[in-house]
Amino acid sequence: MYFIPVILGSIRRNRESAKVAQFAFDWLRQLDRVRTELLDLKELDLPMMEERLRFRKDGPASVVEFSAKINQADSIVIVSPEYSGGYPGVLKNALDYLKSEYQRKPFGIITVSAVETGGILCLNGLRQVVLHLGGVPIPASLMVARVQESFDTEGNPTDPKFTLNARKFFDELMWFTEALSARRSAKTTAT
Ligand SMILES: Cc1cc2nc3c(=O)[nH]c(=O)nc-3n(C[C@H](O)[C@H](O)[C@H](O)COP(=O)(O)O)c2cc1C
Repeated sequence: MYFIPVILGSIRRNRESAKVAQFAFDWLRQLDRVRTELLDLKELDLPMMEERLRFRKDGPASVVEFSAKINQADSIVIVSPEYSGGYPGVLKNALDYLKSEYQRKPFGIITVSAVETGGILCLNGLRQVVLHLGGVPIPASLMVARVQESFDTEGNPTDPKFTLNARKFFDELMWFTEALSARRSAKTTAT
């Protein structure tokens, strides 16, 4: 089984990204050989980072829990809204706590926007951050434009093209998950 948690990077009141995270969670839950979990930053409620977890002996329990989940993960999905041309501070705060937990793990990034652009600036920014942390952002992207209209009341996408894009995105994520998991478990070292 591959463990692929979904990080929900919006804690805003009435956040639209929750629908998208639920969609990603439901998709992953239906895949064979995948176990998933929604890591909702609103519920985790991590404190503002005073120091990275590895340099603390008194790591807050919520951060220790977050670290354990990411450590177990074979790959990670992030669902993030675009805020002010980038990613939300609460997401960066969470990501900054950890490092070794991300090493050589694929990241599938799903961005959410209220307008037509789909959160492309957030996607580009997050890819940089993930690379810096030692993760591997997959080349495929899944962007949700005009999120208010993109899902019906039951949480299904209103545009069939989005479902096709989602299939490609998750197929790619699984390819990278399988490929990199195999190499990580072969315990190779960087040259
Ligand atoms: C502080 C803030 C900044 C925002 N900046 C952008 C932006 O730069 N680009 C964009 O497409 N949407 C922007 N939005 C709108 C979000 O895309 C919109 O709220 C959308 O519903 C996804 O975020 P949510 O999960 O918080 O609802 C911004 C929203 C907030 C609250």
